[in-house]
Amino acid sequence: MTVSTVAINRQMRDFDHRDSFWLFGYGSLLFKAGFCYLEHRPATISGWSRRFWQGSHDHRGTAHAPGRVVTLVEDPGAQCTGMAYRITPDVLEPLDVREKNGYLRFTAELSFHDGGADRGLVYIATADNPAFLGPAPMSEMACQIASAAGPSGPNRDYLLGMARALRELRVHDPHVLALEEALLVRERGPRRSGSG
Ligand code: BEZ
Repeated sequence: MTVSTVAINRQMRDFDHRDSFWLFGYGSLLFKAGFCYLEHRPATISGWSRRFWQGSHDHRGTAHAPGRVVTLVEDPGAQCTGMAYRITPDVLEPLDVREKNGYLRFTAELSFHDGGADRGLVYIATADNPAFLGPAPMSEMACQIASAAGPSGPNRDYLLGMARALRELRVHDPHVLALEEALLVRERGPRRSGSG
């Protein structure tokens, strides 16, 4: 289901008075920012985990065959590493449109890997949005991702691009790695016994 969070997000004005501020990327922003930024720094937020639990009807899937993309779920004690981008306020308008299928603006405390911390903005699709899919067995999620594609490209490229970006950041994310492995096993197909 396609919903629009644009109007709700435009009411969130926490960063309006700033010339620039941090946006925390943990999904497609890890490998494809698609906007201009002033600088970027690896960063971690606490109490959240990255999960492929959000449906994508408009980017990596369609209304009839939605893909799966990441959101953040509350997880006390967990840490999620991503990339923080320092942006100017004008970047948010197109981002609100791009992420309109369920993502809402939140604020979070970002800890930068090279030192220091600051408040930043993060888009999160919460469990009450109509496109939320929630958890499923890895094999089922991999099957859905393997077959879905949308205007932004195949869903598999999104998963593999994210796994590659996390490796480059030296981030160990068991959920993403397990899903990547399930996808690759599926794509390799059954092996003949004795084929070494
Ligand atoms: C990201 O961090 O890549 C992201 C995820 C969901 C909405 C917007 C950005």
